Amino acid sequence: MGDKATLTVDGKSYDFDVFVGSENEKCIDIQSLRDQTGYITMDPGYGNTGSCYSSITYVDGAKGILRYRGYPIEQIAEQASFMEVACLILYGELPTQQQLGRFRDAIAEHAPIHTNLEHHFSGFPKSAPPMAILSAMLNLVSCFHPEVLEVHSEGRAFNRTAALLLSKVRTISAFSYRMAIGKPINHPNPNLSYCANFLHMMFSDPYREYIASPTVERALNLFLVLHADHEQNCSTSTVRMVGSSHANLFSSVAAGVCALWGPLHGGANTGVIKMLEDIRSSGHSLDYYLDLAKDKSSEYKLMGFGHRVYKNFDPRSRILKKRVYEVLEELKLDDTLLDIAIELEEKTLQDDYFLSRNLYPNVDFYSGILLRAIGIPLDMFPVMFAIGRMPGWISNWRELLAHKQRISRPRQIYTGEKLRQYVPIDER
Ligand code: ACO
Repeated sequence: MGDKATLTVDGKSYDFDVFVGSENEKCIDIQSLRDQTGYITMDPGYGNTGSCYSSITYVDGAKGILRYRGYPIEQIAEQASFMEVACLILYGELPTQQQLGRFRDAIAEHAPIHTNLEHHFSGFPKSAPPMAILSAMLNLVSCFHPEVLEVHSEGRAFNRTAALLLSKVRTISAFSYRMAIGKPINHPNPNLSYCANFLHMMFSDPYREYIASPTVERALNLFLVLHADHEQNCSTSTVRMVGSSHANLFSSVAAGVCALWGPLHGGANTGVIKMLEDIRSSGHSLDYYLDLAKDKSSEYKLMGFGHRVYKNFDPRSRILKKRVYEVLEELKLDDTLLDIAIELEEKTLQDDYFLSRNLYPNVDFYSGILLRAIGIPLDMFPVMFAIGRMPGWISNWRELLAHKQRISRPRQIYTGEKLRQYVPIDER
C-alpha cells in the first residue's frame, strides 16, 4: 500500500488505497466504495475490474508478455514438460526430480476410472458434444470419490484431489472420444508420459498399440503447456466464481468447462478451422471474408483474432506459428489451411480495421492446425484446451480459498419497472 486515490462525488471527497503489484500493475482498492459513498462502479465485461490478487500468472497485453510464476512462456514452452508446468502452477516453484517423480506417480495412480463410472459413457448418444460429456463426467467423479467433495486447499488432501483431477480429465476425455467413434476404450498405461498416455488412450486399437512419435508427443506437450493458465479469463473467473461459494474443486472446474465451451473462448479453436475450411471451399477471396468481418451489420468475426488483454501480439500464437511449420515438416504433412491462415494474417497486418483495433492472431489461430496435424478430431479441440487449462483452474481455485476470498456477488443497477400492484389474471 502507498498512495491514495481521491474520488469526488456529490461534492464530497473520499480516499481509497492504491495497490501496486510486483510488475507495477496498479489498482484502486474500492472495497469500501459502496459503504462510504452509496455508489457502485459499472464495468460490464469486467475490462477494468480486478477480481483478486494473484501470484500465479502475469500477462502484459501491451508488450505481449506471459509468465507462469515469473518464468517467461518462451522458455517454458521450449523446455518444460506439461507435468513440470502443472507442478509449477500448482505449487509456485519448479519441481525437483524427486518431487516431479512423486507427482507423476500420483497421476499414474489415479488414471483408471471406476468401472461404474465407465458405464455412464454408454448413456450418451454418439453425437453428444464432448464438452457436455466432459463437464457432466467431471461432476460425476465426485459420486465415486466422495472425498473430493471436501474442500481442502492445502496438504495431502489437496495434493490428492489435484492429481486425481489432472489424471481423470485425461482419461475421461480419451474415453469420450472412443465412445463417440464406437470403438472400445483403451485403459491407461502407467509407464507412459502424460501426453503419450493420452494419445495411447485415444488412438490405440486392440491389435495395434499407438506409439506416439517424439514429434507428436512434443507437439501435444507444447499445446498443453501453452494453455496451462492465463489469469482471470472467462473460464478461470467462472471457476473462481463457483469456488467462492465453497463448491468443491470438481464442480467448480466442471463449470469452467462450460464457460470455456463458448465460441468466443475455448470454442474458438474449432471456429478457426471451420472458418479456414470454409474459405478454402467457398471460392470467395480472402478480401471477401475480411470485408465481412469489418461489416458491422454482419455478425461475422475472424475467429482466432483479437483478445481482451493482448493488444500487440499474443506470445502463444507466435510460438505456435513457428512450431506448426516444424511439426508439419517433421511429420511430412502438407496442410493447405496453414497457407490460408498465413495469408489471412498477412492481410490483416496491412488492414487499418485490424491494426487500429489491435486485432492480432490469438492462441487459437494456429493451435487448431497443430491439433489436426497430430490427429485430434475437430470436436475434441475445446476438450484439449480444457485438459491444458486444468492446472490453472485448480491453482486459481486453491488461491481463492487460501486468500479466504468472500463469495463472489456483483451488484447491478436496476433499470426495470418501478413499484406496481399485482392485477389478478381475470382482471387483465
Ligand atoms: N473479427 C472482427 N472484428 C473484431 C474481432 C474479430 N475477431 N474481434 C474484435 N473485433 C472488433 C469488435 O467488433 C470491436 O469493433 P468496434 O470497436 O468497431 O465496435 C473491436 O474489434 C474491439 O473488440 P472488442 O469487442 O472490444 O473485444 P473484446 O475484448 O470484447 O472481445 C474477443 C475479445 C472475444 C476475443 C473478440 O476479439 C472475438 O470475438 N474474437 C474472435 C473469437 C476468438 O478468437 N476468441 C478466442 C479468444 S482467446 C481465448 O479465449 C483463448
